[in-house]
Amino acid sequence: MSPDLDCASSCPFAVAREEALSFPVGQIHRVATEGEEVDETKRNMLKLLAVAGIVGVGIGGGVAGALQYAQPPTIGISSYPRVQLLDVSGQPLTVDSAMKNYSSNSAQCFTFAYPLLNEPNFFLNLYPAVDHALNGIGPAGGPQTIVAFSAICQHLGCPAPAIAYYPPGTCPNTPGGKSVYIHCSCHGSTYDPTNGASNLTGPAVLPLPQVVLEPDANGNIFAVGITPSSPPVNGHINTLQGGYGVASTSQVNSQPPVILCNFPQ
Ligand code: FES
Repeated sequence: MSPDLDCASSCPFAVAREEALSFPVGQIHRVATEGEEVDETKRNMLKLLAVAGIVGVGIGGGVAGALQYAQPPTIGISSYPRVQLLDVSGQPLTVDSAMKNYSSNSAQCFTFAYPLLNEPNFFLNLYPAVDHALNGIGPAGGPQTIVAFSAICQHLGCPAPAIAYYPPGTCPNTPGGKSVYIHCSCHGSTYDPTNGASNLTGPAVLPLPQVVLEPDANGNIFAVGITPSSPPVNGHINTLQGGYGVASTSQVNSQPPVILCNFPQ
């Protein structure tokens, strides 16, 4: 017999389930014994004010110290790490394998996290759609078309695959006549990956932050920073703050993109 995943009547605490689910987001709430409700937000605020008052009487500057613990802890990292990229199968991602397996014609959405776990980035090889040098990496003497950009839209923060890379021929019309572009299906912003992911159409006005890629002597690809001219990743005051840092490696994930062809001309 399949489990009852909705469990409207069979789960523990099912009696209070509907009421708990309908409580406004952002407030802390606990349903106590039958018929008795406890608003934890109000209770916690009263406790906090009481503690702050006591400390404030005894030690003038202590109030600020007490209140700082009412804030969520700041998480983040202090500098950009050097992180080795792994391909979708978990093997080291090299310039050679990127040229063979991640061409600009791929219909998949390839992303990896950097520098924080909650900051996904597109991994793109724009060859053969683009064969001139970009601000990227590539084989010695060959096209430098391997680039990486934030996969979080700079408008209201829709992440991949809602924002996605469109290979050539995906839609009958293209923004700005570009053969390749990045399009956000949430509100229609488009970006030009051949020009630093600058805006082609709004409502976003900022470019997607670009990850600095660097190969080692064996062609293994590392993410080593964000270009200094990039804005912060959307939703982060600072690209290094607001999440936990990735480990020493970051694996490329593959997922189908969300494709919508009705963008502004
Ligand atoms: S979130 Fe991407 S266009 Fe609005």
